[in-house]
Amino acid sequence: MTDRLPPQHRGEKFVQTLFDRIARRYDLLNRIISFHLDTRWRRKAVRAAIRASDRLILDVGTGTGDLALAAAQAAMEPGGTIIGLDLSLEMLRRAREKSHRCRCAGATRFVLGSALSVPFKDERFDVVMTAFVLRNIPDLALFFRQAHQALRAGGRLVTLDMFPPPDSNFARLYALYFYRLVPWIGAGIARERGAYQYLSDSVRTFDTPEAIADLIGRTGFRSVALQKFLRGAVCLHIAEKRVAPKPEG
Ligand SMILES: C[S@@+](CC[C@H](N)C(=O)[O-])C[C@H]1O[C@@H](n2cnc3c(N)ncnc32)[C@H](O)[C@@H]1O
Repeated sequence: MTDRLPPQHRGEKFVQTLFDRIARRYDLLNRIISFHLDTRWRRKAVRAAIRASDRLILDVGTGTGDLALAAAQAAMEPGGTIIGLDLSLEMLRRAREKSHRCRCAGATRFVLGSALSVPFKDERFDVVMTAFVLRNIPDLALFFRQAHQALRAGGRLVTLDMFPPPDSNFARLYALYFYRLVPWIGAGIARERGAYQYLSDSVRTFDTPEAIADLIGRTGFRSVALQKFLRGAVCLHIAEKRVAPKPEG
């Protein structure tokens, strides 16, 4: 029954089960489907958004930890911590193994939990970031409010995601590849056509990057910046939590 709902409305249980199922082949499929560009986009997000002075970062929907580990390796000074939060235990298991392999285990922690009820104290984090997660979240306004609450004043929200590219010859080619072929690649390599059909549908039916920027602005962030890669098929949003004005007198 859930299979007939639009991707963004299938709920956390559906998403958790799906990622538990594909965790084993997730990284391999990402590299193949994106021609290795996914690692480059994460590195760009880290370079654009993370500062060496950041001490505490929350990576929501951390999955197998690629964004968290990219930040730990490239951007943070010793003593900083990145917490990866995710619904899927199987994805987190891979993230933990990878953090041990890259000797980042001291700088990373992986925690089971939901983006819609972030299990940490308010106003703690310098950065809340996500990569390829927004399309799975049934209530994005609630998620952005949760991120806002988790950030200290002046902290940054950073989101990297896939979007349907605006109409063009490239968009038609992209549609052929991403909406038609990718589910078959998922079937061939991971034996999971349904999961990769869901991922491809979640891009096809997603909002525009401008609508997401607008929503971020309406949930209390300021100066929402938008960067587009691959002709708008992948976008990076960076926004800042307003510093509350000092009371007069
Ligand atoms: C496409 S993967 C992205 C993983 C990783 N960020 C990356 O860059 O490869 C989406 C991840 O978000 C997680 N996720 C989806 N909805 C979530 C939610 N509401 N709360 C926490 N994690 C969620 C999934 O379990 C999955 O691991």
